Amino acid sequence: MLNPQPIPSYLIQSEAVRERFDRLKSREVILEVRDLDKRFESAQGECTALNGINFKTHRREFVCVIGPSGCGKSTLIRILAGLERQTSGSVLLDGKPVEGPGADRGMVFQGYTLFPWLTVKKNVMFGLKMNGHSTMHAERDALQWLDLVGLTKFANAYPHQLSGGMKQRVAIARALANRPRILLMDEPFGALDAQTRAKMQTHLLDIWRNIDVTVLFITHDLDEAIFLADRILVLKANPGEVQELIEVPVPRPRDYSQATSPEFLATKARLEALIHPPTAVDEEDDVVRPHMVRMTDVTDNVE
Ligand SMILES: Nc1ncnc2c1ncn2[C@@H]1O[C@H](COP(=O)(O)OP(=O)(O)OP(=O)(O)O)[C@@H](O)[C@H]1O
Ligand SMILES: [Mg+2]
Repeated sequence: MLNPQPIPSYLIQSEAVRERFDRLKSREVILEVRDLDKRFESAQGECTALNGINFKTHRREFVCVIGPSGCGKSTLIRILAGLERQTSGSVLLDGKPVEGPGADRGMVFQGYTLFPWLTVKKNVMFGLKMNGHSTMHAERDALQWLDLVGLTKFANAYPHQLSGGMKQRVAIARALANRPRILLMDEPFGALDAQTRAKMQTHLLDIWRNIDVTVLFITHDLDEAIFLADRILVLKANPGEVQELIEVPVPRPRDYSQATSPEFLATKARLEALIHPPTAVDEEDDVVRPHMVRMTDVTDNVE
């Protein structure tokens, strides 16, 4: 029998990948999160959603954030967006503290957040007009962004006429139209079927490659994180803390054939070990397994 090849360490990088990371880290810092804490008061008492979060993101870097449910991913992105206030610590964008929402950050959420009463084009124009652009300017820009996401033909359609993937492409166009410094994405493809999701991932990388934008992308999906990210910020829950910031050793450009490469498998094994450590899964099983009562009179067993 053939012995399977042992998986190498995720810390081993080819020379090309190492050089790429050296170049990436020499670029200016766009986002800096310093000693960020967030506590919520609730009827059940105080909950520490985020505890001592520190990291930096460089210009045109693609960072994915991953971690178990409730580890504070959405809380983090809402603080970065200025929609939520931290308890302590700071968030600096281009060296300036984030004090509230701003056009320098674009948001894309999992839920479809387009205005249903506006056409696709008018959805994209909306933010541009809010930021003081004339209708003519907004329309010209909106059409350019729709072209970039491949939806020119649907400019005059309404959101309900679009598939889930198309709606998220409009949401991306709308978020990018204001030329943000950073695109903040909270599980944007989480509601899509596997095939559409894979297409959207490739599409997002194509867009990112062609424009000057830094991306912070939250996901539950380990493969998605490895496929997209330069670095993966791994959080743990209770309290939400950084476990590790992993440099993905998979070379770019990326394609799905790399999913079986040693670098990809090594990164996935590391993420699995961090996110689903065997003891934690056992403990969780004890907690969530319901007390089973037989609720049928049928005597033959189904298995
Ligand atoms: N407004 C709030 N009030 C009280 N507690 C909150 C509030 N928002 C979030 N929390 C708590 O903070 C913690 C982190 O929540 P958050 O939604 O950021 O997690 P998440 O990592 O995005 O989870 P998921 O993967 O399920 O989306 C959870 O324990 C949650 O119950
Ligand atoms: Mg969330």
